[in-house]
Amino acid sequence: MVPLYFVSTNHNKYLEIESILQKYRISVVFSKLVLTEIQSDSIEEIAIEKSKYAFAEISRPVIVEDDGLFICQLNGFPGQYSSYVYKTIGNDGILKLMNNSKQRFAVFKSFLAFSDDMNHYGFTGESEGRIAFGVTEGGWGYDPIFIPNGSDLTFGQLQILNRKTEFSHRAKALKRFAQWYNQNYKGMSTYEYKRDS
Ligand code: IMP
Repeated sequence: MVPLYFVSTNHNKYLEIESILQKYRISVVFSKLVLTEIQSDSIEEIAIEKSKYAFAEISRPVIVEDDGLFICQLNGFPGQYSSYVYKTIGNDGILKLMNNSKQRFAVFKSFLAFSDDMNHYGFTGESEGRIAFGVTEGGWGYDPIFIPNGSDLTFGQLQILNRKTEFSHRAKALKRFAQWYNQNYKGMSTYEYKRDS
């Protein structure tokens, strides 16, 4: 069977992706690679270009995933700069910027890109919610400050209870991807894959 690779430097993402894809009977191999990231205002474009670089590196069907946390009160910040902002000001810095505002609506967006030598497809997932007033325990990245709609707990607290995927942006994008992948690729032998491509 043609193996599917997930290329990233983020092992936390891989663990989530592996466990979600298992539910759809898709196994995925982690490839830890730093990929060139283009400058763009669109996480969709960044992810598609990254998946093309990833395919060029490993010559196997590959998925990459880019995320952004878009906070309404901050005009969509940190958005496509989420990774840099997390590394620089972190969750405490975001809470300071929020300045105890009552308006705390936010959306976590996932964009998952698939590439092989012929095809480039994207799958999106969104989780709407709000920014907590404090940093909770659990999870990684912005998990401790994001409360998805339908829950009173942050992603961090939900992660501890093994319930984050019920709400997560990533799980929604992966569901769309898995349905498409299982119809088009699953079970294809390496021979068939090469012949059809
Ligand atoms: P990137 O897609 O890896 O660039 O992610 C952007 C930023 O969002 C990084 O700082 C990640 O740590 C953070 N992030 C992405 N997905 C999640 C998540 O599911 N929970 C919490 N933080 C996340």
